[in-house]
Amino acid sequence: MSKNTVTITDNRTGKSIECPIKDGVHGPSVIDSRNLYKELELFTFDPAFVTTASCESKITFIDGEKGILLYRGYPIEQLAKNSSYLEVCYLLLYGELPTEDQMKNFRGSICQHTLLHEGLSNFYKGFQHDAHPMAMLVGVVGALSGYYPDAMDIKNPEHRNMSAIRLIAKLPTIATRIHKYLIGQPYVYPRNSLDYVSNFMYMMFSRPTMDYEFNEKANRALEIMLILHADHEQNASTSTVRLAGSSQAHPFSCVAGGIATLWGPAHGGANEAVIRMLHNIGHSRNIPKYIDRFKDKNDPTRLMGFGHRVYKNYDPRATIIRESCHGLLKDLDMSQMPLFETAMELERIALEDDYFIERKLYPNVDFYSGIILSALNIPLNMFTVMFSVARTVGWVSQWMEMMNEPDLKIGRPRQLYLGNSRRDYIPMDKR
Ligand code: SDX
Repeated sequence: MSKNTVTITDNRTGKSIECPIKDGVHGPSVIDSRNLYKELELFTFDPAFVTTASCESKITFIDGEKGILLYRGYPIEQLAKNSSYLEVCYLLLYGELPTEDQMKNFRGSICQHTLLHEGLSNFYKGFQHDAHPMAMLVGVVGALSGYYPDAMDIKNPEHRNMSAIRLIAKLPTIATRIHKYLIGQPYVYPRNSLDYVSNFMYMMFSRPTMDYEFNEKANRALEIMLILHADHEQNASTSTVRLAGSSQAHPFSCVAGGIATLWGPAHGGANEAVIRMLHNIGHSRNIPKYIDRFKDKNDPTRLMGFGHRVYKNYDPRATIIRESCHGLLKDLDMSQMPLFETAMELERIALEDDYFIERKLYPNVDFYSGIILSALNIPLNMFTVMFSVARTVGWVSQWMEMMNEPDLKIGRPRQLYLGNSRRDYIPMDKR
């Protein structure tokens, strides 16, 4: 019996199968159970895929116990300190940090694709002015697939790369136009002389009636936030993009599916939910009664921004973004921001409470990202749009990695059927 296997025996029949154990570079090894059904006519059962590895990947590694996050092997702390979002995009897409020439060419490619087809503006006009920005983002990005039929040749690596470039380049333009549409201001076209983040802030906040003043410290805080949110292994929205992509669907529609998934408050919608929670709490003196609600099994209210499926220790991104948050509020003379003070007190109290300690519930990246976005004057309902802009590179990198697999198969999970056994149709007059 080889040692690098797991033997699964069905004690009802005495039949056994030896499943190979596959080791990764970091993290848990996996049981390759692909022959389980063929040999034992059994499925594995793992609702919400809590302990299921859905794929092999070389892009991002997370260690939930040690609070480690690596993009292509580089620690998130070093990238947040030294890199730019566009350089991180290159790293996630192509696997290595770019040389100066490579970065210049990459930035040039992105700049060529920041504009939107003018016809796309018609999709905005169909939305009411109180539509949620994420509803608009899902619609417009999905509609984008109608403008690039050539991207359907997804077996062509050059087409796949072009789709990735187009999405990374256009998301800021699409996102800022959503904001301008909802507040009734004229769209601001991208200026390719600006870096990625400055261009975003320019399109988001400038007006034809006045010069726009850039704030380097605000730009850097946003850059760090985008870097921290760029990719995160096989989270719910990335898994959606992969599953949609496995059917060989148009990449823009796959990303629209990822955006739809990210919108949920249990996932990317948490940054917006954190701020709404802090507003509802209102003042630190109200925290204890909210803590009781978060712990009450009969109350669906959860402490938003706390807990994580993988991080059972501090989310390394939360540590970085907490420091960035402190710095930005100090730079903007907003350290006494009531929202921030309430957040700090809520974090302190929760981290001392046995309920959260026993369940290993710590602040995640969303606990602080909303405060930074509030300080940058990003409207609350645009927070998950910001997360989508950042995560687009993660979605398209994971999609490209999957599409490059020589033996790509369509994803098709099975089930444990608990419905009615076979029965015959009953005519209406006999029911
Ligand atoms: C993101 O996957 C990713 O990588 C996601 C992400 C990314 O970058 O893509 O990191 C981004 O989505 C971060 C998470 C943002 N969501 C929130 O902040 C929403 C609040 N958090 C919870 O909804 C929850 O913690 C999840 C969804 C994040 C994780 O849930 P799990 O791992 O499925 O844990 P669980 O629901 O099984 O809860 C385990 C226990 C339960 O109590 P018991 O039944 O054991 O008594 O912990 C409790 C839960 O009730 N619990 C919470 C809680 N989170 C879990 N109780 C109160 N408040 C919370 N936030």
